[in-house]
Amino acid sequence: MASSAAAASIVSLLFLSSSLLLVSEAQKTSAPIVNGLSWTFYKQSCPKVESIIRNQLKKVFKKDIGQAAGLLRLHFHDCFVLGCEGSVLLDGSASGPGEQEAIPNLTLRKEAFEIIDDLRARVHKECGRVVSCSDIVAIAARDSVTLSGGPDYEVPLGRRDGLTFATQQGTLDNLVPPFADTTFLLDRLASKNLDKTDAVALSGGHTIGISHCSSFTDRLYPTQDPTMDKTFANNLKKSCPAADSPNTVFQDIRSPNVFDNKYYVDLMNRQGLFTSDQDLYTDKRTRDIVKSFAVDEKLFFEQFALSMIKMGQMSVLTGKQGEVRANCSVRNTDNKNYLASVVDDEVREEGWSAEFRK
Ligand code: HEM
Repeated sequence: MASSAAAASIVSLLFLSSSLLLVSEAQKTSAPIVNGLSWTFYKQSCPKVESIIRNQLKKVFKKDIGQAAGLLRLHFHDCFVLGCEGSVLLDGSASGPGEQEAIPNLTLRKEAFEIIDDLRARVHKECGRVVSCSDIVAIAARDSVTLSGGPDYEVPLGRRDGLTFATQQGTLDNLVPPFADTTFLLDRLASKNLDKTDAVALSGGHTIGISHCSSFTDRLYPTQDPTMDKTFANNLKKSCPAADSPNTVFQDIRSPNVFDNKYYVDLMNRQGLFTSDQDLYTDKRTRDIVKSFAVDEKLFFEQFALSMIKMGQMSVLTGKQGEVRANCSVRNTDNKNYLASVVDDEVREEGWSAEFRK
């Protein structure tokens, strides 16, 4: 009995180390940078952009660290729908409601949008209208990870802001619902050139932040999901006494506000919140990757950074495509204050602003 248990644990250790090997192999191929983006895009035009954003976010998170989760999720919802081009930031127009009205986006934090436009104002005040809203979202997501205790990594820059937004159906068709199983999740991510290692790593974003009851109560009522730990389920039922309770719960019960690898420890203890989370541990294709991240935080951090860089370059607009919005929630042509800002920027760009004011 004892020797068969020992043999079983040796076999599982072997499995674990082979998956570690697989994931470390994947890390060596660092995500390539797409045409038009650059690691030093604002070196001349706005060298302080990253320090302005980081310093301001330090202040924001000191007041409320929960905002980091909101900003991280915003970048994901931007990138998955029409690419990382700021379409999620746009208000609706005569052509229809904006992406924010689509069901998965109703739980994006209102403050996240305000923080992004405030950062945009600070950056544009310093440099003029040269930095796009979609780049600000990508930098803010990275800073949210870093300032919550996660990895620091470089973000390729030079994204331009899009001129259109997706329909409600288009938004739904591109995001992943929490009731998705691993097959659904892997298929949807594969359609965006993200593989199963990316899928497991990016889901680790759920190591911070909150969820509304309605996003997971299908696992509690009317019948309890048998893959969920019973004590965990009972506690969730206390926070969410009915399927549609308006309450929220932490996503990672071990360290809700710290970006670490505890999300994967939760999954191994059957304490994942969504089906899309827990099924990564149930499914044989992803189980060993979950384990490898649960036992090795450094490995998770390295892979998370790579997968974020990859996700952050999805269908970006570059060069002369799109525009650099003067207000993140409206296209420049719909922006009443845009003319004034164009004049300001031209003055600045031509460098005769001081002359002009004489
Ligand atoms: C791909 C499958 C994913 C699914 C099914 C999913 C689903 C969800 C759901 C349902 C919520 C809770 C919304 C609510 O009820 O308030 C949530 C929150 C969150 N998600 Fe995801 N998500 C996924 C991927 C990601 C990725 C790739 C990231 C980032 C890398 C991410 C980051 C977050 C964060 C940080 C929160 C907390 C937001 C807050 O506290 O405001 N998610 N996600």
